[in-house]
Amino acid sequence: MEATEQGPIDVEAVRADFPILEREVAGGEDLVYLDNAATSHTPEPVVDAIADYYRRYNSNVHRGLHELSQEASVAYEDAHDKLAAFVGGEDREEMVFTKNTTEAENLVAFAWGLNELGPGDEVVLTQMEHHASLVTWQQVADETGAEVKYIPITDDGYLDMDAAADMITDDTALVNAVHISNTLGTVNPVGELADIAHDHGAYIFVDGAQAAPTRAVDVQEIDADFYAFSGHKMLGPTGIGCLYGKRHLLAEMEPFLYGGDMIERVSYEDATWNDPPWKFEAGTPVIAQGIALAEAVDYLQDIGMDAIRAHEEALTEYAYDQLTMTDDVDVYGPPGDDRGAVVSFNVDGIHAHDLSSILNDYGVAIRAGDHCTQPLHDTLGVPASARASFYLYNTRDEVDALVAAVDEARQIFAP
Ligand SMILES: Cc1ncc(COP(=O)(O)O)c(C=O)c1O
Repeated sequence: MEATEQGPIDVEAVRADFPILEREVAGGEDLVYLDNAATSHTPEPVVDAIADYYRRYNSNVHRGLHELSQEASVAYEDAHDKLAAFVGGEDREEMVFTKNTTEAENLVAFAWGLNELGPGDEVVLTQMEHHASLVTWQQVADETGAEVKYIPITDDGYLDMDAAADMITDDTALVNAVHISNTLGTVNPVGELADIAHDHGAYIFVDGAQAAPTRAVDVQEIDADFYAFSGHKMLGPTGIGCLYGKRHLLAEMEPFLYGGDMIERVSYEDATWNDPPWKFEAGTPVIAQGIALAEAVDYLQDIGMDAIRAHEEALTEYAYDQLTMTDDVDVYGPPGDDRGAVVSFNVDGIHAHDLSSILNDYGVAIRAGDHCTQPLHDTLGVPASARASFYLYNTRDEVDALVAAVDEARQIFAP
């Protein structure tokens, strides 16, 4: 795809693939969709891939010798290879399809954590973890007698790496770190954290839900033991997530769910397990979703992950600068030129929910609340924040629409 003078992406051409962006909302306003960190939209080729599967070769995988089943099986298995390669993994044996990032966290916490953790072990998280990891490791720690610790954040929203170096010790069994914070936008030095963890014989699970959709990721370079992300945040369908795991770890781990397809041999007394990734995909898996997610990867890679990242960084910095022009706005996290495509903020005197609802009247869709980071909001000292998040199809005009709508809200709430 050719870039125009607007930047590294031909946004107009991209937007043509997303008919939903043509929608009007709130009784006639143009939709300005700035809630991409929650869920992104789905381009025509991905919608077509889903329809094509159901129209032409809908069938169960790994179960039939008939032609439709074979076609579905090949497409589904190839999708694992594509998703593995997308994050720098070797092949399908390192890529498990789950329901979402949350299920990927639960899979490792239960299949690995429940068996491996015990009293005296520590699981080190960051203060900016999403509930998907935070609640999950809390529960498994509770069950096993392990302890959960949190690497603090600095005043400007970075991870305190001195504290990290002190907190990760020989007692640490696993570090779980979000790659890009969905609230602060902080891009965490996950490679450095991996080195510290490995120096102490611990594993690292990287939550890539916000990173994998928005930049090139290389799990080998990070040296991540596990890396998780969700299809619905990267132009794919809902209902599919991805868990990259190092080959030997997935091979050693116990299954998470039991049932069909995850077994090798079953007797009335016992069973043995299939090889990864199928060992972790019990029952009929996410066939249409997996095939469509592979199409989403093609779409992203045709545009180029570096171009997507550059486009988003420019928009994010612009939004940060525009929003902080007035001193009644607090933006949380690092400066505008050093963050992922997320800007969480509060406007003095306006609750984030009120702000979001007024913005909706102007067609501007943002998220308001705690963004599944309640403890982080406690640390920030606010009950909630408004969050605008950007993707490859967003424009500077849409940032201007956001800022104008915030100004309208300011007028409504003016004393
Ligand atoms: C950083 C992060 N981790 C995990 C999740 C959970 O993703 P899912 O709801 O797809 O499981 C999200 C979703 O917002 C997220 O932003």
